[in-house]
Amino acid sequence: MALKVTVFFGSVREGRWGFRAAKYIAQQLRKKDYEVFLYDPEAIPIPLLRKPFHHYQNPDDAPQYLQDVRKEIISSDAFIVVAAEYNHSMPPALVNAMDHFHPDDYRHKPCGICTYSYGSFGGVRAGVQLRSFLGELGMITPSYMFPIPTILESFTEDGVPQNEHMIKNTEKLIDEVGWYAQALKNHRESIPPPV
Ligand SMILES: Cc1cc2nc3c(=O)[nH]c(=O)nc-3n(C[C@H](O)[C@H](O)[C@H](O)COP(=O)(O)O)c2cc1C
Repeated sequence: MALKVTVFFGSVREGRWGFRAAKYIAQQLRKKDYEVFLYDPEAIPIPLLRKPFHHYQNPDDAPQYLQDVRKEIISSDAFIVVAAEYNHSMPPALVNAMDHFHPDDYRHKPCGICTYSYGSFGGVRAGVQLRSFLGELGMITPSYMFPIPTILESFTEDGVPQNEHMIKNTEKLIDEVGWYAQALKNHRESIPPPV
């Protein structure tokens, strides 16, 4: 059975530039036979956190969009976040969306980190913070992080990579996440995780 990956994209900024990278990563995952759910906060605009999913006593009372996104999350074997750096930190649309769900919905699964920026640093400072945030949500983050500098020159709007690094590094990101996804799935199936 195909492994499933949820790709979280982290911007709703008007004219946002990073979605091109998320599109390419999702496309490459599909080419490698992963099932993919691309979470786009523009398409499913989860509002600012007022009540996370797990605060509903009856889960059926949670808004349908939360129920739907949670189903995608809990049926995933792995995650990849695609995030810009905002003020040396993580993008609010990403953190807000992910905060709506309990760590139990994410834990014991890997999450790859891809960051990008308009300038030359590739959003690495957000990447460092993401490792800590995602760890708190119970995910394993492979050591390799994929930083994309000069996002507008690195991908076309349609998500076509413009240099060899984008192609090779996307492959490395996916291979790292895929390896952990399979390993952790095998282990979860033979030894259920601690409650
Ligand atoms: C509020 C804000 C803060 C930003 N802070 C940084 C920053 O700290 N470092 C950086 O390299 N780029 C920064 N940028 C530039 C972003 O990297 C660039 O605009 C990027 O394309 C944003 O992603 P998006 O277009 O997908 O929303 C910032 C942009 C915004 C809007």
